[in-house]
Amino acid sequence: MDLKFQVLLLSILLGIRVALGAVVIEDLDELSNRANDYDFVIIGGGTAGSVVATRLGENPKLQILVIEAGPSNEEVFDTRVPGLWTTLAQTRVDWNYTTTPQTGINGEVVEYPRAKMLGGCSSHNGMVYTRGSKDDWDRYASIIGNKELTWQNILPVMFKTERLTNPTPVGHLNPAIHGKNGKVSVSAPFTNIPFNDMLLQASAELKEEFPFLLDMNDGKVIGTGWIQSTINNGERSSAATAYLGGTGNNVHVLLNTQVTRVVPVNSKGLEFRGVEVAANAQAPRRTITAKKEVIVSGGVIGTPHVLLHSGIGDRKELEKVGIHTLVDNPSVGKNFSDHTSTPVAFAARTQSTDFDQVAALEQWNKTRSGPLAQLLPTNHITWIRLPADSPPFHAGLVDPTAGPNSPHIEVIYLALTSDSSSVAASASAQKGSSGSANVTIQTLVVNLHPISRGSVTLASSDPFHQPLIDFAIFTQPEDMAIAREGIRNIQKMFSAPGLRGSVFGTSSPAANVTSDEELDAFLKSASTPLGHALGSAAMSPHGASWGVVDPDFRVKGTSGLRVVDASLISRTPSGHTQAAVYAFAEMASAAIAADYK
Ligand SMILES: Cc1cc2nc3c(=O)[nH]c(=O)nc-3n(C[C@H](O)[C@H](O)[C@H](O)COP(=O)(O)OP(=O)(O)OC[C@H]3O[C@@H](n4cnc5c(N)ncnc54)[C@H](O)[C@@H]3O)c2cc1C
Ligand SMILES: *[C@@H]1O[C@H](CO)[C@@H](O)[C@H](O)[C@H]1NC(C)=O
Ligand SMILES: *[C@@H]1O[C@H](CO)[C@@H](O)[C@H](O)[C@H]1NC(C)=O
Ligand SMILES: *[C@@H]1O[C@H](CO)[C@@H](O)[C@H](O)[C@H]1NC(C)=O
Ligand SMILES: *[C@@H]1O[C@H](CO)[C@@H](O)[C@H](O)[C@H]1NC(C)=O
Ligand SMILES: *[C@@H]1O[C@H](CO)[C@@H](O)[C@H](O)[C@H]1NC(C)=O
Repeated sequence: MDLKFQVLLLSILLGIRVALGAVVIEDLDELSNRANDYDFVIIGGGTAGSVVATRLGENPKLQILVIEAGPSNEEVFDTRVPGLWTTLAQTRVDWNYTTTPQTGINGEVVEYPRAKMLGGCSSHNGMVYTRGSKDDWDRYASIIGNKELTWQNILPVMFKTERLTNPTPVGHLNPAIHGKNGKVSVSAPFTNIPFNDMLLQASAELKEEFPFLLDMNDGKVIGTGWIQSTINNGERSSAATAYLGGTGNNVHVLLNTQVTRVVPVNSKGLEFRGVEVAANAQAPRRTITAKKEVIVSGGVIGTPHVLLHSGIGDRKELEKVGIHTLVDNPSVGKNFSDHTSTPVAFAARTQSTDFDQVAALEQWNKTRSGPLAQLLPTNHITWIRLPADSPPFHAGLVDPTAGPNSPHIEVIYLALTSDSSSVAASASAQKGSSGSANVTIQTLVVNLHPISRGSVTLASSDPFHQPLIDFAIFTQPEDMAIAREGIRNIQKMFSAPGLRGSVFGTSSPAANVTSDEELDAFLKSASTPLGHALGSAAMSPHGASWGVVDPDFRVKGTSGLRVVDASLISRTPSGHTQAAVYAFAEMASAAIAADYK
């Protein structure tokens, strides 16, 4: 009998299911008397948690348990189809978080998606694959005092994640600087549309400021380049499909179970190897004890939430909600930040990217191709570095980027939507019309390096209540000044001589919105956090007066407890965050594995 079959048989006998590669346990009751047999308990089967579980599981002597609050990604068809990623927020596989009223954006309360399923946000994110700039990584190395984090040293770690996968069209990226044998597929699918040529023409005409960028992952992130994405032959490639999908039977995944807190294993010590869990708010709590260590990978909101409920946080704030403090650390949940995002639209005349959703899904189902095989119907991102003499810097603002290879602004092209009535638009989409039309170019203008800092704090001592999520967006006026210049710069790019007949200027904000004050009013009315939150359990040097995690990923003032996820990253990268999370998770896995060789 082969081993896989034995495992399957055993699983059927025990009433458990083998999926993905890992052994899946659907609920807490099924865990029964094996609960304390695990060497490592990982809290959260998300992006980072899946990496750590998979890598530690490569040592067959170690038994690993992952505890995930949500269900398996495999239950949710839309996670597989790249173009359907926007349908997944605010569903049963999302935590449905909302922010506190954000004073910087007219008091708005904003929905803030975080996935609640295996793979975490890598199962429902936008799949854009960007590493950030060389300067970003060299700055992490210097803040934390760890040379392993320099660009030069982190690249081979990133290659452990990356598996360059077709299509990789010639001239759309540089294959020489990508990993070929890692776990998560990275590819560059694209659609032939005239807008591609318009962007490339602007890059050619204004190459000083907006050059063509062959590969936005080469460390210098300035200019317009083709999107790379975590897509495997038309299907999403996530931490769940690519990492957990390849584990052995020593990695077990307990689903639909929330960790309420971590607890010390003896009454006096601070060795947090106990993990208190419950299926829901009404269900009895139960404690699972890890033999070696507990790794918290709950994500940028889940991780501080668990730590604070465990009495690891600011004593004064914990007292207010009636939680006994075990480790007084005022940094837990603080220094929380995100990129800011402002929708900006241009009026233009070109071929629209409208398509018929039903026909597109049929095509995807049959051949994993067509418009839904891509994350967006457009194909580029523009990265802008503001000139040193830009207005925001006149007032003495210290450049918030990490250095000259880093952009201040990202412009994401979302779609070119036809301005004709929706009936006419879908009719022409069905006919596959490729003619020019009046369209709206939908973009997001992103400030990549806000200096405002917010927090994740507790509203009550009930771990089933949402924490207070405050990005403090635009509370530092400099962040608005940079976003404002972002809008002016992308307007400048779209006024390149060759585009004058086809792009007519912004439609939102309106063309008459030009002064600082008018643009700020627009920014306040339209902006939100982008979805790349980090920093809520920051990594800092050993012995620093701030921070939550030491360079070896251990929670300061504790033993048996580490944090591995986006919350430890203290500065926003010049790019989307998943590649950085994968890199820190690979690095942590290697460090932990080395401790238990
Ligand atoms: C809508 C959206 C779009 C995005 N688009 C992109 C993109 O295009 N490119 C990019 O690079 N990045 C993108 N990101 C960001 C990126 O996906 C995240 O930064 C990254 O995945 C975070 O990984 P993580 O391991 O820190 O947390 P997560 O992946 O969120 O994992 C945390 C896991 O822990 C579980 N959990 C939390 N608390 C508990 C608890 N108490 N008990 C049990 N389980 C718990 C959660 O359910 C989740 O599965 C996007 C994010 C979102 C939300
Ligand atoms: C999130 O909200 C949606 C829509 O209201 C709901 O269907 C879903 O069950 C909620 N998710 C969770 C995890 O409660
Ligand atoms: C926030 O981070 C900065 C370093 O970037 C540090 O000086 C400060 O003390 C931190 N604040 C808290 C509350 O941790
Ligand atoms: C595509 O496949 C999914 C899953 O099998 C199915 O639910 C859906 O109805 C199909 N859609 C079309 C348009 O064929
Ligand atoms: C298309 O836009 C141009 C420029 O704004 C305008 O002059 C023209 O009337 C529009 N055409 C249609 C069909 O709406
Ligand atoms: C811009 O023009 C519109 C009418 O087209 C007007 O309603 C609005 O007040 C003007 N805004 C500014 C800032 O001048």
